[in-house]
Amino acid sequence: MFSKKLTAILLLAPFVFAAPVEDVGKRQSVDTSQHCGQWDTVTAGQYTMYLDQWGKDNASSGQSCANVVSLSGTNLAWQNTWTWQGGSGVKSYTNINLNANLNKQLSAIQNIDAAWSWSQTTSGSIVANVAYDLFTSSSAGGSNQNEIMIWLANFNAGPISSQYNSDGTPKPVASNISIAGHTWNLYSGSNGANNVFSFLLTSGTAQSFSGDLNLFLKYLTSSQTLSTSQYLTTVQGGSEATSGTAVLTSSTYSVTIA
Ligand SMILES: *[C@@H]1O[C@H](CO)[C@@H](O)[C@H](O)[C@H]1NC(C)=O
Ligand SMILES: *[C@@H]1O[C@H](CO)[C@@H](O)[C@H](O)[C@H]1NC(C)=O
Repeated sequence: MFSKKLTAILLLAPFVFAAPVEDVGKRQSVDTSQHCGQWDTVTAGQYTMYLDQWGKDNASSGQSCANVVSLSGTNLAWQNTWTWQGGSGVKSYTNINLNANLNKQLSAIQNIDAAWSWSQTTSGSIVANVAYDLFTSSSAGGSNQNEIMIWLANFNAGPISSQYNSDGTPKPVASNISIAGHTWNLYSGSNGANNVFSFLLTSGTAQSFSGDLNLFLKYLTSSQTLSTSQYLTTVQGGSEATSGTAVLTSSTYSVTIA
């Protein structure tokens, strides 16, 4: 902790005292060091990277570490290395949180352009997803009422669901929905605090996703129970990690609300 702060000060010092004007544009004013603290954050452009290891105490051992690789315009490259053993439930949701243009009413959102190219290496079997996580509220900046998840990959995990098939698998409330060039099943249920809508791919993974996340919200307002008067309070993307060992490398991550 101390050494990280010291490094940041040392990197800043020449900039503050001696940076020639022509160097300012090239200089990455972003912290690219590795962070492993349970609640560490790194702000980069319009994003904050949250380590968010909220279930850490439920693991017998393990941690999530992440670093920003680079920031260019709205495009963030980042890496997340995690390992979790034991316990139950999600241990971490290390994610990139958008800080710009939130708290619009759903009816006022034109689009949410998103691009996410990622790859993952694992050792052994893992339980995790790679997913966007959005929240809505009845007021701007208010408490969450609805959670909307868009899973780009499901590794032996499963969505929250209020209904199950006789074989114990979660039962979708809608199937084979075409949005953003992929086919999805929609699951619905409660996490105790929020209604949770989860879009899961009918097959495979989307490792170079590019699309308008607002189309998922529009589907929910036109075909499900989500109200257009709700406000979009949160847009995040990351991996909910339950168990195993993985390195998630995101070469492109960009979300912009208009
Ligand atoms: C975390 O552990 C506690 C205590 O064992 C348990 O009650 C709780 O359900 C666990 N949470 C999850 C998400 O597994
Ligand atoms: C979804 O599409 C698959 C493949 O075409 C098909 O087998 C399945 O019956 C469809 N599910 C529903 C509920 O329509």
